Amino acid sequence: MTGDILKFLREKEYVSGEVLAHKLNISRVAIWKQIQRLKATGYKIISDQNLGYCLVFRPDLLLPQEIQRGLSTNYIGKEIYYFPELKSTNIIAKEKALHRAEGIEEGTLIIAERQSAGKGRLGRKWFSPVGGIWLSVILYPQLSPSYISRITLMTAVAAVKAIKICTQIKSQIKWPNDILINEKKVCGILTEMSAELDIISWVVVGIGINVNIDHREFPEDIQENTISLKEVSGKEVLRVKLVQTFLKEFEKYYEILKRREFSSVLKEWKLYSHTLGKKIRVDIGERIITGEAVDINEEGALILKKEDGELAEIISGTVT
Ligand code: BTN
Repeated sequence: MTGDILKFLREKEYVSGEVLAHKLNISRVAIWKQIQRLKATGYKIISDQNLGYCLVFRPDLLLPQEIQRGLSTNYIGKEIYYFPELKSTNIIAKEKALHRAEGIEEGTLIIAERQSAGKGRLGRKWFSPVGGIWLSVILYPQLSPSYISRITLMTAVAAVKAIKICTQIKSQIKWPNDILINEKKVCGILTEMSAELDIISWVVVGIGINVNIDHREFPEDIQENTISLKEVSGKEVLRVKLVQTFLKEFEKYYEILKRREFSSVLKEWKLYSHTLGKKIRVDIGERIITGEAVDINEEGALILKKEDGELAEIISGTVT
């Protein structure tokens, strides 16, 4: 309802309560109540006794009505659950994905202004203050669980593209899922899934982008290796536009993946790679392997040429 009111308020300078009530088929009191709700979320709406309501300021909030206005995807982000604050968008997305039968569609988005218990890979915490983009997308791909790495890689490509389109900033991908600018982390991806035998039941792709965050806000231990888009570009970045662009790119690459044409995504991933060609150490849990990152294979695994010349295929790990 508030979305409909905003639509009319954007079209004209002033719209009377009477016209709004007529168009939306509700009472003028109900319109007034909705206007108060909009004001409470940060919209500035002035009213004139004779002319009606006038929208004078839209907050930079990731509200569903703002994201969906001008969103040109077919199904990613058609349904959005918005939270000013929650523990973790991935947690809520996983709960929702379990209720697929109750109408939680593929492409449903969970988005928050702030996470109080954001999750990173390998059980780490993910610092998520106001000013960033913290979102999770629910997918139900008819693919084998081995596709999970490819979903993470294609998400990274979508993020790099969206950042470039919206800010002109070039970023790089550190295998498998860190997005870096000037060697510092600006974005992370956490992909979680549930599968039955050889088919995925659901996937939750969580992505966090440090957008309009001041460096001094980051916890001290990660300050040195973290950066935000605002810090690189020197100005605030429009978060709504970045979310819309990311969702568009994400849907595009996901469609390619579902057509099993991953090689074209991989080609782009390699273009943006920070890892390939470098001598690296990969922590794979039980041990650390060192060598040169020579390739990523069609499954999304990293191919490492060890010091003895032998090739190792690494499906999951942390590059240091
Ligand atoms: C990492 O690099 O360790 C992955 C970070 C993923 C963070 C995002 S923010 C949105 C979503 N919800 C979470 O709790 N985590 C992911």
